[in-house]
Amino acid sequence: MGFEDVEVEEIHTPQLGDPFPELEVRTTKGLIKLPDFFKGKWFVLFSHPGDFTPVCTTEFVAFAKRHDGFREINCELIGLSIDQVFCHIKWLEWIEENLGVRVDFPVIADDSGMVADLLGMISPSKGSNTVRAVFVVDPEGKIRAMLYYPQEVGRNVDEILRLVRALQVSDERKAALPANWPDNELVGDDLIVPPASSVEEKRSRMEAKARGEVECFDWWFCHRTYSDDLKYLLERAVIRELQVSIQYMWQHVKLEGTEIGKRLKDIAIQEMKHAEEIAERLTELGGIPPTKPSRVRVGESPREMMELDAEDEEGAVKLYTKIIKIAKERGDSKTAEMFEKILKDEEEHLEFFRSQQ
Ligand SMILES: [Fe+2]
Ligand SMILES: [Fe+2]
Repeated sequence: MGFEDVEVEEIHTPQLGDPFPELEVRTTKGLIKLPDFFKGKWFVLFSHPGDFTPVCTTEFVAFAKRHDGFREINCELIGLSIDQVFCHIKWLEWIEENLGVRVDFPVIADDSGMVADLLGMISPSKGSNTVRAVFVVDPEGKIRAMLYYPQEVGRNVDEILRLVRALQVSDERKAALPANWPDNELVGDDLIVPPASSVEEKRSRMEAKARGEVECFDWWFCHRTYSDDLKYLLERAVIRELQVSIQYMWQHVKLEGTEIGKRLKDIAIQEMKHAEEIAERLTELGGIPPTKPSRVRVGESPREMMELDAEDEEGAVKLYTKIIKIAKERGDSKTAEMFEKILKDEEEHLEFFRSQQ
């Protein structure tokens, strides 16, 4: 028998870009065929170590609370552990009765461990329970992202929501997205243009830069606007104002009694007024103002705080300059004038934070 006749059966755990394996699974909502059950939708399959355990309970509540947010972006959720269906049902009932949160997505009862094995959700050195694995699957049934978290740390569900949204935007716009998108420190919510891979492409990229279609730090590092929709930009502005007003208030508390602390409070109040003003304008334009910031950065030392704040003000100056330009192009003088006033404040803030470094 020649070497080529030997048949080697490999256990193949899925990789990024692979089709999600076809499976029939028992769940709290009956038998489901994956990935067909979610055809035409994105879905997030996440495993947890076990029912009636505290960290998993916090995760289930976090997923359930964001279920509508996932649905809004055409994405469904499905959980999994090696417990049995009746155990899942009892646990979900407990969550609803005691924590007032209804879990409305199916949960796979993988009591034989078959699915977990197939998807590589068990780390043998960590015992026989499933680890905290996450699979993001696209509407064509292709695995687009995999995350593995340890038993001792619960996942950040907002990050999973961001990940799905970012993959969708990347598909729609044929672009890559920066760190922390849409809150990147260098390029805000801009999209990253793939690096030029030939001299020809480098030249055309530089021409696009000259036409103002892209902005570049260098020829291999260009970015372009994600959206020039005024409502979208005003939404980003409201989020930014809410963020800095909370951030400065926090910092004011930390630095209470100092001159910087006093000034931070004044600026925080001014930012809150900006947030209200922009939200009002957004409502007039038919948009729905966001009510919470996406992040708040407090900083350890006063110096670090001033650095972070200067960075945030720089972002505001960039965003508001863009809003003024677009508003003027569209003949929306009310929005343009409003942001011209706000921009003056932000430039003052920026100067102050820079002078304190
Ligand atoms: Fe502001
Ligand atoms: Fe500001």
